[in-house]
Amino acid sequence: MAQTVAVPKGETVLRAAVLAGIAIDSVCGGKGTCGKCRVRAHGGLDEPGEAERAALSPGELGGGIRLACQAKILADAALILETPAPVSELAAARWKARPEKWRRPTLRPNVSKVCLPTAEFRQQPGASGFEHLRMALSQRGHRIAGADLEALRQLSEVWRVEADGITAVLTGSQMTAVEPGDTTQSLYGLAVDIGTSTVVGYLLDLRRGSQVAASGTGNPQAIHGQDVISRIHYAREYRHGRGDLQAEIVGAVNSIVGRVAEDSGVDRRSIYEMTVVGNTCMLHLLLGLNPVGLALAPYLAVTTQAATLTASTLGIEINPNGRVHILPSVAAFVGADTVGVVLATSLHRSPEIKLAIDIGTNGEMILGSRERLLCCSAAAGPAFEGGQIRQGIIAAPGAIERVTLDDEVSVTTIDGATPRGICGSGLIDALAEMLRYDVVDSRGRMVSPEAAQTLLPQGLARRVIRDEEGLHFVLVEGSEAFNGQPIAIYQKDVRQLQLAKAAVRAGVEILKKELGISDSDISEVLLAGAFGSYVNKENAAAIGLLPVVPLGRVRGVGNAAGMGAKWALLSTGARREAQLIARHAQYIELSARPDFQEHFMAAMDFPASAQSAP
Ligand code: FES
Repeated sequence: MAQTVAVPKGETVLRAAVLAGIAIDSVCGGKGTCGKCRVRAHGGLDEPGEAERAALSPGELGGGIRLACQAKILADAALILETPAPVSELAAARWKARPEKWRRPTLRPNVSKVCLPTAEFRQQPGASGFEHLRMALSQRGHRIAGADLEALRQLSEVWRVEADGITAVLTGSQMTAVEPGDTTQSLYGLAVDIGTSTVVGYLLDLRRGSQVAASGTGNPQAIHGQDVISRIHYAREYRHGRGDLQAEIVGAVNSIVGRVAEDSGVDRRSIYEMTVVGNTCMLHLLLGLNPVGLALAPYLAVTTQAATLTASTLGIEINPNGRVHILPSVAAFVGADTVGVVLATSLHRSPEIKLAIDIGTNGEMILGSRERLLCCSAAAGPAFEGGQIRQGIIAAPGAIERVTLDDEVSVTTIDGATPRGICGSGLIDALAEMLRYDVVDSRGRMVSPEAAQTLLPQGLARRVIRDEEGLHFVLVEGSEAFNGQPIAIYQKDVRQLQLAKAAVRAGVEILKKELGISDSDISEVLLAGAFGSYVNKENAAAIGLLPVVPLGRVRGVGNAAGMGAKWALLSTGARREAQLIARHAQYIELSARPDFQEHFMAAMDFPASAQSAP
C-alpha cells in the first residue's frame, strides 16, 4: 500500500516514515549506530555518509539500502519497506495470539454499579437528588463519600425524567457516573502493561472476572530508541520531547482500547477503570513527568507512589469519568511491572525463598519470601530482545527462536517464516550450542576459521568466517534468508551477550549475598515476560544466566507483570497488597555496590560445564 507524505527538504527518511504513520525499528534512536533502520530507498536522497558506510556493506549500499535515520530527503523519494510491519508490531501481535493460563484473585473490583428505581428519589421533600441517591445506595450497603461534578451533571439530566431507573457507577466510595436505565450488565476494565518495546492490554469483565479480549502494539516511542535511556535523552534534548513521548504512549493505549472494544463488541464507554503497570520510566512518560532524574546519579524517580487519575485527564479514551490507576513502583529502575510480577506470582507470600527474573530491555530481579524481599535492576541492555546484536530482532515472525547444532545447523523460526534475524531465545540457544561444539570457548572467544577446520565437523567449520565484517558463525545462508544476507552470530554479539548475562547474574549474586543464601536455598526460579516464556531453560543455565539450581525448579510464568495489572483490576485487596510490596521490597542499587564489578567480572565467562560437545 503506497502512502505519500510531504516533508521539508533535509528531513530524514525515518522522520518522514513516522509522519506517514509508518513505524521503523530504530534501536539506537537515530544515532546511526544500530543499523536496524535499514530500508530500501531511492530518488532524491543525499549521498550515504560515514555512519551508513560503516553500517552497510557495499552490496547493500549498491542495492539502494539506506539507514532511514541517516538518509536525508532532498527531493521526491520513494521508500520501500520490505517487512509487512515493524517487528515490534509483529511481536505485540504474537503476545496477543498466545493464550495464557491465569489464576485470578477473589473478585472484588474497585468499580461497581447499582441500579435504583427513580421513585426512591422523590420521597423526602427538601432533600437533594444526590442525598436521595446517597440514601438509596446506603440502604443497599454502599457508602458514598462524594460525587464527581460530571456525575452530578449526569444525575441532573436523568433523575427526574427516567422512568426505568438510573444506574450509579461507584469507584471506591466515589460516585463517578450516573447513567439512564439499568446498565449494570455492562461493567468492564482494562489492565495495561506498558513495556519499553510493547504495550499489551487485557479487557476484563468486572462482573465475572473473565478476560474478554486482549491486544498489543509496539511501543511507538521506539522510534526514539529501544531502551529507556534513549527515551530520556529524547525527553531532555527536545523542547517537545516529553510531550511527544506522552502523546505516543497515550496513542498506543488508545489504539489498544479501540481494538479490544472492536474485538469484543464492548462499548469503550463501558470501560470504567484501567490499571497500569510499567517500568518507572514508562510511567513517568505516561504521566508527563520529567524522567531526567532516572538517568542521572543518584537515580531518583519523581514519584514511585500509586496514582489514580480521571481517564479524560490523561486523554485515555475509556469512559471519560473512568479512572486510571497506576500501580506503585519501588525505585527508579524497579517499576510497577516488577510489583506486578511479585503480586501475580505471590512471591511476597511464599514461605520458601524464590527468585523472579524479568528480562526485557533491562533485567529486574526479585529474591525473597514472605519474610523479606530484595530487588534490583541490572543494566543488561536490550541484547536479550535482539538489540545491540548485529542481526538481532525481537520475537516476531521470521525470528530464529531455536538453534541446534550437530554436523550442521538447524534453526526454527517463529511461525515458520523465512529467517530475518534472531531473537533472544534463539540467541541463548545459539550461544549454548556454540559452547557445546567449541565454536566459542568459555571466555567467549570464537574459534578461528583455520582452527575450526581441525576442531569442528565440516558442516560447522565452513560456517566460521572472518572477513571485513569480522569473525562470525553463519546460522542461515543468504540464499535462505529474508533479505538475502546471511544471518550470523558475530564475535561482538557474543561479547554483548556476555555483558548482558553477566549483569543479570551479578545482580542475582548480590541479592543472594545480601539475603545470606546460596543457590541451593532457592526453591524456585520464575522467569517472567516473553523472554522467560520462550527461553530454553537448559540453554539459559548452560550459558550461566541462571543460578545453579535443578532445572525442575525453573519455570516460565508468562507476562506476570500484566497479570499483576489484571489482579489489581479485579481485586481491591490485590491493589492494597501491591502497595505493601512496593513499600517493603528493599531495593539494592547495583551501581552503588563496590562488589558489583567483582561479581560482574566473575560472571563474564561461560560455565566450563557447557563445553561438552557430544
Ligand atoms: S542506525 Fe538508524 S536507528 Fe539506529
